Amino acid sequence: MKHLDIVKALQPENEGKEAVVCGWVRTFRDSANVSFLELSDGTSFKKLQVVIDKSALAVDPECTKLGASVAVKGALVKAYKGEGNELNAVSVALLGKSPADYPIQKKRTTLDYLRGIPHLRLRTNTFQAVFRVRSVAAQAIHRYFHENGYYYVNTPLITASDCEGAGEMFRVTTRPWNAQAKSEGEYYKEDFFGVKAGLSVSGQLEGEVAATALGKIYTFGPSFRAENSNTTRHLAEFWHIEPEVAFAELPDVIEIAEDLLKYLIKAVLTECPEELKFFDSFVEKGLLEKLNHVATSDFAVCTYTEAIGILEKKNADFRFPVHWGSDLQSEHEKYLTEEVFKRPVFVTDYPKEIKSFYMKQNADGKTVAATDLLVPRIGEIIGGSEREADYTKLVAAMDARGMDKSAYKQYLDLRIFGTVPHGGFGLGFERFVMYVTGMENIRDVTLFPRSVKNIM
Ligand code: 4AD
Repeated sequence: MKHLDIVKALQPENEGKEAVVCGWVRTFRDSANVSFLELSDGTSFKKLQVVIDKSALAVDPECTKLGASVAVKGALVKAYKGEGNELNAVSVALLGKSPADYPIQKKRTTLDYLRGIPHLRLRTNTFQAVFRVRSVAAQAIHRYFHENGYYYVNTPLITASDCEGAGEMFRVTTRPWNAQAKSEGEYYKEDFFGVKAGLSVSGQLEGEVAATALGKIYTFGPSFRAENSNTTRHLAEFWHIEPEVAFAELPDVIEIAEDLLKYLIKAVLTECPEELKFFDSFVEKGLLEKLNHVATSDFAVCTYTEAIGILEKKNADFRFPVHWGSDLQSEHEKYLTEEVFKRPVFVTDYPKEIKSFYMKQNADGKTVAATDLLVPRIGEIIGGSEREADYTKLVAAMDARGMDKSAYKQYLDLRIFGTVPHGGFGLGFERFVMYVTGMENIRDVTLFPRSVKNIM
């Protein structure tokens, strides 16, 4: 259909031109002599105002209904108010009706209500802005890694090895339930892959395979977690950015993570100014100032042991008091980043018992070279580490956890044939989008959120 995108129709250089513009009706106002349609076609955050001279043009009332889709022919003229152009209509053709029960009405647009209509909520300003920012950030991720010499690899989504080892994988099977099977092994032998298989929680293990040949790689794809975490920060299916770098130690991992985040924030600030202004006004006051500050100042770094020292002084105020060895809960992460450091903070060198088997064991025998990046309002946004490159130590860590080493033969081989120090991290894409938009619920930054008891 030959037409002009609204983003182009608004540009001053198109003033004076004849054009056909298509879109969905966002508002309709009527007065004695003129009526106004506000149109959105998704190409720009700004909408196009269509002006209808009632003495010259009779418009089908169906074309003025909220949510209706129309094609308008007319002349682009400088907008009476504000910047850009408006369209003086010559004809308005109906493409698709929208009945009076169109679910998006001015009075009913709470985020909770909109979660119930995921197929239509993208037609609101908030979701238009979220998904534009998400798209720009995704492009910037590929650009960052490409500009810095990383290869983009695609790791498998179906896997027989559990990366994080916390028993939170979705099972992949073609078999109906069979209570007669004598053992798990016997049951899975007859299954599609002949072994227990699941959806990957992380592409890291295969990412390490690629990094120990290609040097610097990243993955950007979905990860799946069957954890029963019905929170505003957890999804069962989320998008995961995972760089993996050979000849890198923990300080290098931290440097890359900080550089990537700043690059992405700058990209969103530059490419989505209108969307961020909207979020700053209506979603998180002070967002722009926060992002500008974060993009240009140093992140904090503190060890887990130091963090526990700080947190223990506040134990009386926490629901879950901490001690050395305890996992940090969301309340502790938020306290550290929001109250103590007041900026993003890398917490490093966690006790080995609360972290994954693959992390490099520190000389103290108690901690591993891991890091989580905590940011205000969200808590953990990145989890990463230097990997254990020593075969004997890695085997010992797996044995201590009672892991089945036969499922990790290839992973262990990397420590036999030319092992090197290496490391990487995982950034949760949705958590990043929450951070830069100010949106408070992870279900509002993904198209069709999948979470416990929710697969609309
Ligand atoms: O800390 P996690 O579990 O680390 C890993 O998976 C490593 N294998 C990554 C690596 O080193 N390559 O997850 C990394 C990040 C978290 O910091 C969080 O941002 C995001 O992934 N994440 C989730 N996001 C949404 N919903 C969930 N259920 C998430 N679980 C993790």
